[in-house]
Amino acid sequence: MTRIVRAGPSLGLPLRAALVTLALWSGSASWAADDTLFRALGGDAGIARIVDGLIDRAYLDDRIKAKFDGVKQAALKESIRKQFCQLSGGPCVYDGETMRNSHAQLALTKADFNALVEDLQAAMDEQQVPFTVQNKLLALLAPMHRDIITK
Ligand code: HEM
Repeated sequence: MTRIVRAGPSLGLPLRAALVTLALWSGSASWAADDTLFRALGGDAGIARIVDGLIDRAYLDDRIKAKFDGVKQAALKESIRKQFCQLSGGPCVYDGETMRNSHAQLALTKADFNALVEDLQAAMDEQQVPFTVQNKLLALLAPMHRDIITK
């Protein structure tokens, strides 16, 4: 114990500076946004492909396509792309409506929600997103059911 206390002041300045640098560097991972999931989804381009696949499927999905009547597909894709990017830790800002407001008039059921999730899973399968990565995105989306399902 005594030896450790004594060792402190004897550390040369360069060594102490190096230790501080190391401490800052090792801590930085928790300071910076963690973009692991964003990168695992393929970054901007990967997410754009996933969202294209999701919305293309949803608009053709007999279970839910009526919900998208009159909704501009390109704008919806852009909005969800930004949302997924931000949610996964990417460098985007989602500037759309809240989930509660944007789905309030749609009278969505649990079955509608599950249908969309299946379309998303199919879109991620098509992009060969590993299951562990798929599950991480789905886990971030799952709590939104409280705001989206109103019926
Ligand atoms: C986790 C599930 C869901 C997520 C993350 C999600 C995400 C979004 C986002 C980001 C928007 C755009 C809001 C804006 O730009 O202001 C949106 C709008 C919309 N969503 Fe969802 N959504 C989900 C579930 C669903 C389901 C289950 C349906 C229908 C089956 C649906 C149908 C729509 C429609 C029709 C719009 C356009 C509303 C409008 O422009 O009036 N969504 N959604």
